Amino acid sequence: MNPSAVHFISLPKILDNRGNLSFVEEYSHVPFKIKRTYWIYDVPGGETRGGHSYKTNQELIIALSGSFTVVTNDGTKEEQFLLNRSYMGLYVPEGVWRHMENFSTNSCALVLASEMYSEGDYEREFSTFIKSK
Ligand code: TYD
Repeated sequence: MNPSAVHFISLPKILDNRGNLSFVEEYSHVPFKIKRTYWIYDVPGGETRGGHSYKTNQELIIALSGSFTVVTNDGTKEEQFLLNRSYMGLYVPEGVWRHMENFSTNSCALVLASEMYSEGDYEREFSTFIKSK
């Protein structure tokens, strides 16, 4: 598996009759220092989020609850990843176009990011993204 490609990362899962517990540590379960986290929630039915790439930001996306699909495009191929387990993260490196769709009711997408928020790090025009590849 190419570590710089989009891929699932299986997170630790501590099973317990009182309820399960999972966790993420920087440089251990994600290959970057976690500078920021954000989450997407209360997404109305049929809405999509994302629809851009980053120049330097890497992310790990986790469906903390519910489910949604992450669609990625690295400039040569499009792939779809169903996220529906809170112990599975999807690693998305920089330079990959992605959007999220098919959010289930009450789903919550937690995103761990390698960079602080910077609008200048976004590429929001798909045609420019493809031309850069
Ligand atoms: P954006 O990343 O464009 O979301 P999406 O691609 O899903 O539509 O972010 C939406 C808005 O939130 C945009 O105005 C920027 C702002 N924002 C922050 O201020 N900080 C953040 O960490 C993020 C992710 C977004």
